Amino acid sequence: MTADTEQPAGKPSPNDILVPVSKTFYIETFGCQMNAHDSEKVIGTLEHEGYAQVSDEAEAGLILYNTCSIRDKAEQKVFHRLNEYKRLQGEGKRFAVIGCVAQQEGERIFERAPYVSIVAGSASYRNLPDMLARLEAGETRITGLDDRQTEETFDTEFTVRSNPHRGYITIIEGCDKFCAYCVVPYTRGKERSRTSASVLVEARRMADQGYTDIQLLGQNVNSWRDPSGRLSFAELLTAVGSTPGIKRVRFTTSHPRDFTRDIVEAIDATPTLCDHIHLPVQSGSSSVLHAMSREYTRDWYLERMSWIHSAKRDISITSDMIVGFPGETDADFEETITLLGAVRYDAVFAFKFSPRPNTPAVGMPDTISDEVKTERLRILNDRQREIQREHYARHLGQTVEVMVESYNAARGQIVGRSTQNKTVNFTLVPDALEPPIGSYLPIRITRTMPNCLVGESIAGALPLQTTLQAQPFVVLN
Ligand code: SAH
Ligand code: SF4
Ligand code: F3S
Repeated sequence: MTADTEQPAGKPSPNDILVPVSKTFYIETFGCQMNAHDSEKVIGTLEHEGYAQVSDEAEAGLILYNTCSIRDKAEQKVFHRLNEYKRLQGEGKRFAVIGCVAQQEGERIFERAPYVSIVAGSASYRNLPDMLARLEAGETRITGLDDRQTEETFDTEFTVRSNPHRGYITIIEGCDKFCAYCVVPYTRGKERSRTSASVLVEARRMADQGYTDIQLLGQNVNSWRDPSGRLSFAELLTAVGSTPGIKRVRFTTSHPRDFTRDIVEAIDATPTLCDHIHLPVQSGSSSVLHAMSREYTRDWYLERMSWIHSAKRDISITSDMIVGFPGETDADFEETITLLGAVRYDAVFAFKFSPRPNTPAVGMPDTISDEVKTERLRILNDRQREIQREHYARHLGQTVEVMVESYNAARGQIVGRSTQNKTVNFTLVPDALEPPIGSYLPIRITRTMPNCLVGESIAGALPLQTTLQAQPFVVLN
């Protein structure tokens, strides 16, 4: 067959049976908060295009699978899941694989799972309406694989947020840091920031809808640079925190390289900015940090810790760590352990190094056996648990404000979250009625655990009901 007679890939051919797409969809989401929030935007976009979300995949005409590729042979898991979809293809369902594995594997997904119709990475989501139109026209191999070409962000006013009180706003997409172990710069495209004006419009719109808690998102949220040149990141935090009706503002994930002192000053000066900074260090050894291309040293990181430790407010610090990076010696690992004691984190998310496709670290001799990685992970987690057991005890007897999140009927407790992002399980003083989800309540801490706080409401305290949806509530005593 010559190129002239060949049917263009993906266009409907006379042999295709065009079953109309049923405009219902089911979406499954894996990965980080950015992926979770992307799904909220994708859902909003689909609904705007006339699709209705269903909670059972059996009822869906279109099944979307929003994937994560960060660790642990993620792509194999995706292909395994796609195999399970295979049996559904006879029912006329269509499949879209989106997110980080979609970007990473690209058209290989069509080779291994020919029943998939759309493969799109997050940098292409603004083209979703067009992709859906092509799907409805009968095309079968539709790609949105922008890779690192895009300069634009995916802003949409149609976002459907799953929680009516707390919501995300993406302020920066992509990543330009290229840490040696990480897939994100390849899967999410280049770093691109939204203007301060568009972020503030979204924050105000959310406040008008009754949201009180906003989390600003970015792979490196503090690498945000205002394309309009008006605000610094710290000024943006202050501006979002000054939005009438907003009680809490968080931001994640910060990168040590771009962490400036005015961020700590902004938290000190603005009560609505939460007492919590997630600042992943990855390793306590400067030589491992160098091999990881993190572009800072242990001392550089510790200097930023000293800014946070000397703040007027008790700012909780959390981190991510990787153990068993290629070449990590016992002495390097020991430096990670001593760093835990120097910083006294309130939580650490630790991972065994996992070689990932396309990354420089995949070519480095992986000298650390899985047994050693497992053992280092255990030592790290044990040490950190000890630190948290001691460190959380500072909250004993304190009164902390919690946002009510859920009720744990089995344990007779209410679950809330403090400004430091700590879970607070509490009971009510006698005769008090249940405070509504989303309200704020002062809780006296009566017991501390390594991972959460336990407390009791205060007699006569009125939950602050700031959301529009729920009714005012009074604690009786
Ligand atoms: N942008 C953020 C983190 C993004 S990924 C930052 O730079 O800190 C979330 C976490 O996954 C990372 O902090 C890292 O600890 C972990 N991670 C990423 N790639 C990994 C890999 N190949 N193996 C093990 N852990 C990894
Ligand atoms: Fe990955 Fe590094 Fe970018 Fe974080 S900063 S997303 S770890 S490449
Ligand atoms: Fe995973 Fe992509 Fe997030 S790889 S962690 S979903 S950026």
